[in-house]
Amino acid sequence: MAKLNAVITAVGGYVPDYVLTNEELSKMVDTSDEWITTRVGIRERRILKGEGKGSSDMGVEAVNQVLQKSGTSPDEVDMLICATVTPDHVFPATANIISDKCNIRNAHSFDLNAGCSGFLYALDTAAKFVETGARKKVIVVGADKMSSITDYTDRTTCVLFGDGAGAVLLEPTTEDLGVTDSILKSDGFGRVYLHQKAGGSVKPPTHETIDNREHYIYQEGRHVFKHAVSKMADVAVEVMERNNITAETLDWLVPHQANMRIIEGTAQRMGIDKSKVMINIQRYGNTTAATLPLCLWEWEKKLKKGDNLILATFGAGFTWGAIYLKWGYDGDKV
Ligand code: UT7
Repeated sequence: MAKLNAVITAVGGYVPDYVLTNEELSKMVDTSDEWITTRVGIRERRILKGEGKGSSDMGVEAVNQVLQKSGTSPDEVDMLICATVTPDHVFPATANIISDKCNIRNAHSFDLNAGCSGFLYALDTAAKFVETGARKKVIVVGADKMSSITDYTDRTTCVLFGDGAGAVLLEPTTEDLGVTDSILKSDGFGRVYLHQKAGGSVKPPTHETIDNREHYIYQEGRHVFKHAVSKMADVAVEVMERNNITAETLDWLVPHQANMRIIEGTAQRMGIDKSKVMINIQRYGNTTAATLPLCLWEWEKKLKKGDNLILATFGAGFTWGAIYLKWGYDGDKV
């Protein structure tokens, strides 16, 4: 039997309407547009407003787009993975909720938490199911309502994050396309520098944890930066070299959007021009598991069948990795 590859056949995305600008943040904490744009590269981010709205509501929008664009009926989907660090609830999985709201009833679905690398990990996991022939139509969603765990009195973190969701459909093909190689890494030593202190089983919520503001993102940015800038570039270069891709033959770098300086450092190490790098951090900030699919969604029209893409991430855990994939269709014909 011919070898099966897992190829992306549709992309969807969603960002909420509310735009939180650097100017508005400057009125909330001691910061400035100048500091945020020069140190991080963000101008604005989107915030999901509305009582009772969670990550699933954004994921649903992205998944419905994928179904509609690919002409897939919800019944045909046989697996859905949602990467998130901001699930609607501790349990059940947000993937179960998205499936229910999208009327996907013949699939098994589960969440995957790998910090900002969640989408990359989920894409690799999904690809394995498709390559073995075990599943035929798999949806991978990255959805995060980061505003739900952001402390808007802490200037060191509140300027960084935004809300959003993106999704892709993976299907089998015998053509030389799709997910071709991956390097995934994690090292739990990094957990001390980036985590949420309370709300898990180690420290369940109490009045004290609320008073101490322990249900928000805690980050020692300088330490995270130091590891992110070297490790994301290391894996991106490694996946490039071992697949004999050069700066000329690489069409797009799709990097996690945490800091413009990390993105530029990665592109520089790979020796590629910035015009080949998908960058939307200016408008959306760091949407954690949603950064990569939101890039694919925004750049879809420019992508051509056979394009060489490298996706690269670094995030809480620490987790990091890179995937080399060959794009499956001409985006301008969608
Ligand atoms: O996606 C998950 C992975 N996360 C990342 O990859 C993030 C990695 N880290 C970073 O991107 C950067 O470390 C940050 C953007 C978080 C911070 O930038 P930095 O250049 O590393 O700043 P810093 O933490 O070293 O702080 C420099 C100064 C400090 O003041 P002092 O102590 O030098 O007086 C901070 O208090 O900047 C101050 N500062 C701010 N000033 C104005 C920190 N945040 C702000 C702010 N506005 N929002």
